[in-house]
Amino acid sequence: MEKTSIHGMWSSRFAFILAATGSAVGLGNIWRFPYMTSDNGGGAFVLVYLLCVAMVALPILFAEIAIGRRGRRSPIHSLMDITREDGVSRGWVGIGWISIIAGVLILSFYSVVAGWTLHYSWLYVKQLFGGAAITDPGLVFAELLSHPFELTFWHAVFMVLTMGVVALGVEQGLERAVKFLMPALFIMLLLLVAYGATTGHLGAAASFLFNPDWSKIDGGVFLRAMGQAFFSLSLGMCTMMTYGAYLPRDVSVPRVGATVALADTGIALLAGLAIFPIVIGFGMAPTGGGAGLIFTSLPLAFNSIPFGVVYGLIFFLLLAFAAWTSSISLLEPATAFLVERGVSRKTAALSMAAFCWGLGLLSVLGFNHWSHVKILGRDIMSFIELIANDLMLPLGGLLIALFAGWFISGERMREQLHGLPAPLFTLWRWLVRVVAPVLVAVVLVRAVI
Ligand code: PFF
Repeated sequence: MEKTSIHGMWSSRFAFILAATGSAVGLGNIWRFPYMTSDNGGGAFVLVYLLCVAMVALPILFAEIAIGRRGRRSPIHSLMDITREDGVSRGWVGIGWISIIAGVLILSFYSVVAGWTLHYSWLYVKQLFGGAAITDPGLVFAELLSHPFELTFWHAVFMVLTMGVVALGVEQGLERAVKFLMPALFIMLLLLVAYGATTGHLGAAASFLFNPDWSKIDGGVFLRAMGQAFFSLSLGMCTMMTYGAYLPRDVSVPRVGATVALADTGIALLAGLAIFPIVIGFGMAPTGGGAGLIFTSLPLAFNSIPFGVVYGLIFFLLLAFAAWTSSISLLEPATAFLVERGVSRKTAALSMAAFCWGLGLLSVLGFNHWSHVKILGRDIMSFIELIANDLMLPLGGLLIALFAGWFISGERMREQLHGLPAPLFTLWRWLVRVVAPVLVAVVLVRAVI
């Protein structure tokens, strides 16, 4: 008998694609991808990134969705069922626990950064109605970081938005939210790219993004491109596994998986094509922008272009929407787990969100009252990012690849990956068995030492 999820199911293939793309497309694409590209040699980084997506991320994405659909429960419970059915060590359930911890850690700081985007959106709304212009974006950003109350407020607003959607459940909450937010996001992005095209600098931006300077490719670029691929595709912490648990039986996992990966990559590139023409047009160098590229450089550019306030508002709202559809996917796995333990969905979403919000206060305070606290030379937020993004996601991805490739029943995997022709199934199997684990292990070792 085919299992169904007690949490509800996506109403269609398209609903899943929107939700999974919503999870994948977030701060990672619009804030992180452009500045990582900027800092790591432009086209060279893009090329290696695309390679990592195809060779490592895509096969692991298939594995996560397939495992989720087979289990039909939250990651920990799905893995418990699958290990029992296939007679495999229960130790693999540990992947589910790592994923819950990683999700909580990531959501704690993700919501703080998403709060910045709300703050900036608000500044532009005020400016539209005659408020002061952001004349010195560097100062505005520094001031924001130095005010714990302001940071905490926006962090709380964002967390409430996230919790509200998750509390409503898969069909009434998640699906309805992504059906509204994703098209809005896409339209805003196209508007920005269209603007970029009119600046006359689209060509320069495209050549920066797509003309690889081969001399720039080294081990470090590989390391960062791989980490970016995991983060951007929401891999390694069972988010896609959770979304897969709500996927109808007849939908082809490889098809939706490939669509999500293409959409995520396409939107990252579009974000680059939206941002770099403005940066170049404003006379700033596209290289070496750093993490402040968006919060400090772009407002400067928006300040001096016609309708800059409107573009500024669209841009930061776009970022907030993208972060929202990602943060709901960060909260859902832990919430679903508690629901399966008998907690009501509202209480589960509320308590997990409250916990992550509380943890986020550490990141908030790390920018001001506790700015002297340095762990391994990093501020508190960067330290949490290091543990969660750079260590736990690749570790989770590595374990998922090994589990899917070597331990879980190949027959059952094949059933879940129906639609994949036999030679491609064999190729997928070798990618998760050997190629992905070896590459991820190299990245992990490099990150640790
Ligand atoms: N993929 C999201 C982004 O690019 O911003 C971040 C993310 C969401 C990472 C969900 C991990 C995750 F499970």
